[in-house]
Order: sequence, then C-alpha cells, then structure tokens
Amino acid sequence: MEFKRNILITGGAGFIGSHVVRLFVTKYPDYRIVNLDKLTYAGNLANLKDVEDKPNYEFVKADICDFDEVKNIISRYDIDGIIHLAAESHVDRSIRDPFTFARTNVMGTLSLLQAAKQEWEASASGYEGKRFYHISTDEVYGALQFDGSFFTETTKYDPHSPYSASKAGSDHFVRAFHDTYGMPTLVTNCSNNYGPYQFPEKLIPLFINNIRHNKPLPVYGKGENVRDWLYVVDHARAIDIIFHKGKTAETYNIGGFNEWKNIDLIKVIIKTVDRLLGRPEGASEHLITYVTDRAGHDLRYAIDSTKLKNELGWEPSLQFEEGIEKTVRWYLDNQAWLDQVTSGAYQSYYDKMYGGR
Ligand code: NAD
Ligand code: DAU
Repeated sequence: MEFKRNILITGGAGFIGSHVVRLFVTKYPDYRIVNLDKLTYAGNLANLKDVEDKPNYEFVKADICDFDEVKNIISRYDIDGIIHLAAESHVDRSIRDPFTFARTNVMGTLSLLQAAKQEWEASASGYEGKRFYHISTDEVYGALQFDGSFFTETTKYDPHSPYSASKAGSDHFVRAFHDTYGMPTLVTNCSNNYGPYQFPEKLIPLFINNIRHNKPLPVYGKGENVRDWLYVVDHARAIDIIFHKGKTAETYNIGGFNEWKNIDLIKVIIKTVDRLLGRPEGASEHLITYVTDRAGHDLRYAIDSTKLKNELGWEPSLQFEEGIEKTVRWYLDNQAWLDQVTSGAYQSYYDKMYGGR
C-alpha cells in the first residue's frame, strides 16, 4: 500500500509517545506510522493494544543508539518525518545513573540525527518535504522563583539535573543540525504531563496507586515545589499541530498555564481517589510522609505558551479538574496495567505478539 507520508515516532511505547502514536494512527489512515522503541522498563506495548492491528501501524524494536539499525529503518520505510520522543525521562533515575541518560538522550539523539541526515541527503528530493521534530522539556530552562515569571522560547538554558542536562545537550545537537547542515528541524519544550499510561514512578500515578493500597506518599522536602501540569492528550494534539504547521527551525513552548504546588496537588489527588473509592474525602491524608528532598530539586516551572496559541491556534482542551478526575479513574480502573508494567510482565506479552523479535 502506498502511503501519503511515512512517519517514524521514537519512544512510541512510552507514556507520551503512545498517545502520539494513537492520535496519528487513527487520525491519519493514509500515513504509515512506524513506532521505534527499545522497550526499556518505561516502554510497554500494552499501551497501544487498541491500534496495534491497524494497517498503517508498524512496530520496530530498536535502540536509537544503534546507528546502522536506525539508518536501515529510515531507508526501509522511506521515512520523511521523524517525531523523536525516545528518552530516559525520570529525574530521580538520572541522579542515580547519569551515564544512561547521556547515552540515550545525547548520543541516541545524535545517532538519529546523523542517520536521518545521511538517508535524506542521499534521497532524490534531499531535505524537501522532510521534518525532524524533537520533543523536549521545560526543565532545560532551569528553575524559576515564586515571582510570577515564565519560561519563554528565549529563556537561557540552565539545566540542573543530569536528566535536564542531557535533554539540553540533545536540543543543542538538533539545532546544530539545522544550522550546520540545513536539516529541517523543530524543537518543542513542554511542561509536566499527566494522564493514562504514565509509568508509576512519576508523582501522579505513583501517588494514586499508593493511596489505593494505603502505602506512604513520599513528599520531597516540604512539598512546596511548583510544577505546571498539562493533560497528555493535549500535548499530543499540540505535537500534531506543530508537526504539520510549525515553522522549520522554530522552538515552541507547550504548557497549560496550570501551576500547582506539589502538596496542594497531592491533596487534590487524595480527595479524588478517596471519593472514587468510597472513602471519606481526605481520609488518606495521613499517608503523606515528608522525606529527604530530591538533590538539586528545581523550585518552580511555569511555561508561557502564548507563541503557540498566537501562531498556531493551540490551546489545552481540558480543564485541570476534569483531567485529574479522568486520570484518577483510569488508574483505578486499570490496576492490571499497573501490575503488569511494574512486574515486567509486558515482556512476555511482547514475546507473544512479536515472537521475541
Ligand atoms: P517515558 O519514559 O514514558 O517513555 C520513553 C520511551 O522511550 C519508552 O517507551 C522507552 O522504551 C523508549 N526508549 C528509551 N530509551 C530508548 C532507546 N535507547 N531507544 C529507543 N527507545 C528508547 O517518557 P515520556 O514521559 O513519555 O517522555 C517522552 C519524551 O517527552 C521524552 O523525550 C521526555 O524528555 C519528553 N517530555 C516528557 C514530559 C513528561 O512530563 N513526561 C514533559 C516534557 C517532555
Ligand atoms: O517538566 C517536565 C518534566 O516533568 C519532564 O521532562 C520529565 O520527563 C518528567 O518526569 C517530569 O519531571 P518532574 O521531576 O517534574 O516529575 P516527577 O513526577 O518526578 O515529580 C513531580 C514533582 O513531585 C517534583 O517536584 C518532585 C516531586 N515528587 C516526585 C516523586 C516521584 C515527590 O515529592 N515525591 C515523589 O515520590
């Protein structure tokens, strides 16, 4: 079958990637969507069960650091667009194991860029009709004070954790490939995402699961750090719009103007879980346990996404109250998914589906 476009999505078995794959596979039946993922602990093909049989969807198990294999994939599928999400994404893990973050996030991104460069430069149309879209984070901008300021697209990079340093490194390489070789690249920096299919090491799914099982809720420091939360489906919608309409070489910030102090957010989650489980609202607050702060813990993130709204018309579709209610319900209804991803059982699911390829 001839496809109008052949798009490679890396990290499509992860949290945000699975929402992007689902959106593209269902919205664009005339595009072939190739999901390249190494299936680390954070990648789970069960996240994509509802689309895995679609004729325009292909999964390839590969490591972005494997330059030859990535080059083969770009050539084999005649890839003309890349949406790059594959990464190590958890700050706490980066503090324990920075090498893995440098390898995947910096070297992996470089390998993907170089593979695309060689394949595209050798193709008859060169860079015409091609696009390399890199998904990054607001954490590269560092930390804000409690002064009402925002990260804009021109805020100077000031990463503090090994995770954000590795993402900053990858962003620089992407821009360098545009400036040096003329590769049509684009970068977006998004705030904290929440919603279904997030690995339960991150604050929101971890706490929902712990409240359900009456386990302690480890609040770092005094719980005063502020994060800016966006529903993951709204991030996927933004990626769709930017992939199609964003200007080459531009940067767009993505965020919902939705700042929450951790402890206030945690209390909302507790109330919601308690109510949905039929407990008195707030009954689980005794589970809150203040623990040693995260090393180098960034105080506050807040994204100004005015440019994206003004230039491309994107706005979040969900109010936070609605998003959090949907999210809590999803995790409570999907205990089997939580058990599966934390036990590694998806590996046998993968073996069954793909014969251990
Ligand atoms: P995630 O950890 O849930 O998923 C990452 C995916 O990448 C997994 O499927 C994993 O198997 C895959 N992967 C990891 N190493 C790989 C490798 N070497 N080769 C191929 N695949 C590999 O991450 P996420 O939260 O979905 O984040 C996706 C992207 O969005 C990341 O680049 C992250 O930096 C960025 N981001 C995340 C957030 C957030 O709040 N989660 C916010 C802004 C930006
Ligand atoms: O801002 C975007 C970033 O958001 C993404 O780039 C990262 O990939 C993503 O993991 C996320 O990073 P954070 O460090 O902000 O997310 P996390 O869920 O780990 O933590 C959110 C806040 O909650 C942070 O201030 C630390 C705090 N926290 C987290 C955990 C896991 C706790 O207090 N206790 C916890 O157990």
